[in-house]
Amino acid sequence: MTKIHNVTIVGAGLMGHGLALVHALGECRVVMQDISAAQMDSAPKLIAVALDTLIDGGAVKAGERDAVLARISTEPDLTIAVGNADLVVEAVAEDIEIKRLVYSQIAEAAPDHALLASNTSHLDIFPLLPDTLKARSGIAHWYTPPYIIDLVDLVGAPEAGPEVVETLRALYAGMGKKPIVFAKFAPGYVANRLQAALGLEIYHLLDSGIATPEAIDDSIKYGLAARMAFLGHLKKADYTGLGLVQQIMSNAAYSPPPVRKQSPTIENLVGEGRLGVASGGGFFNYAERPPAEWFSARDRALLKHKALVEKIEREDPM
Ligand SMILES: NC(=O)c1ccc[n+]([C@@H]2O[C@H](COP(=O)([O-])OP(=O)(O)OC[C@H]3O[C@@H](n4cnc5c(N)ncnc54)[C@H](O)[C@@H]3O)[C@@H](O)[C@H]2O)c1
Repeated sequence: MTKIHNVTIVGAGLMGHGLALVHALGECRVVMQDISAAQMDSAPKLIAVALDTLIDGGAVKAGERDAVLARISTEPDLTIAVGNADLVVEAVAEDIEIKRLVYSQIAEAAPDHALLASNTSHLDIFPLLPDTLKARSGIAHWYTPPYIIDLVDLVGAPEAGPEVVETLRALYAGMGKKPIVFAKFAPGYVANRLQAALGLEIYHLLDSGIATPEAIDDSIKYGLAARMAFLGHLKKADYTGLGLVQQIMSNAAYSPPPVRKQSPTIENLVGEGRLGVASGGGFFNYAERPPAEWFSARDRALLKHKALVEKIEREDPM
């Protein structure tokens, strides 16, 4: 099995900088590469802010800060950046031609033993790989912010042996993450597909005037998510009793809304420039604090919530 010590992150954007931090926290030496000079400049600063959030939240010891940061370097030339890699993590934009180009450059310049892991969300990257990469590639798909959210979706390339995914699984499990191995690629894996299905119903309820944004988020926070956070869905069904689940399914007056490509509610908000936290408003208002404060409050809340779920699992395993 390939021993992973040197990791190169190609694409240092929203996900790439977070993935650089994840691997550095996991004791790897990390080289970050991006074609954008602005991104190469901002990524190390974003990493330092994220690391401080983890330290403030008690997830990383303050004494480890300098050593973690010292394990991360930047290199603008992709050929040099991947030249010593055991693992190349691809986090460039979800665009067929950009990903195809990057894979051909990696195939040319990375060592023969190096594995490739793509963070693709919906694009099937396996047909884009050059032949020389096919047997040593896979997908490792993360959730933002990846230095807090533990889920990692893993899929091996059809031509790769099981050892490729097993190497990634062992690496990330060793970092305390929750890797899940899928037999084959399905756009959105499980979590994003469930989110998409939920989104269809949510925008239907909003657009039909059946529920307000407050009613929808309160229903999730105080109902659905309260149980899901430690039971998931299927274990919750076991607690409900499968006889009742069977009855609800067979009697259901529920029919799901049709798949739509647009929601008038979202079109209106976007048209008004209400793009979410970063713009000071979306479904809700965020004008009273700068966006960075909201994001850091979210990250602190995620860390506390994660610690609580871990405590429940330790003390009251179900
Ligand atoms: N944003 C998310 O929440 C999220 C979550 C999971 C997976 N993903 C996936 O991760 C990947 C990256 O997404 P992101 O949100 O970080 O995008 P992003 O736009 O923030 O970052 C992409 C980076 O790739 C760089 N890039 C473009 N062409 C390049 C090239 N030829 N060589 C090197 N760098 C290049 C860009 O300059 C940019 O910095 C996508 O496949 C996306 O689907 C995103």
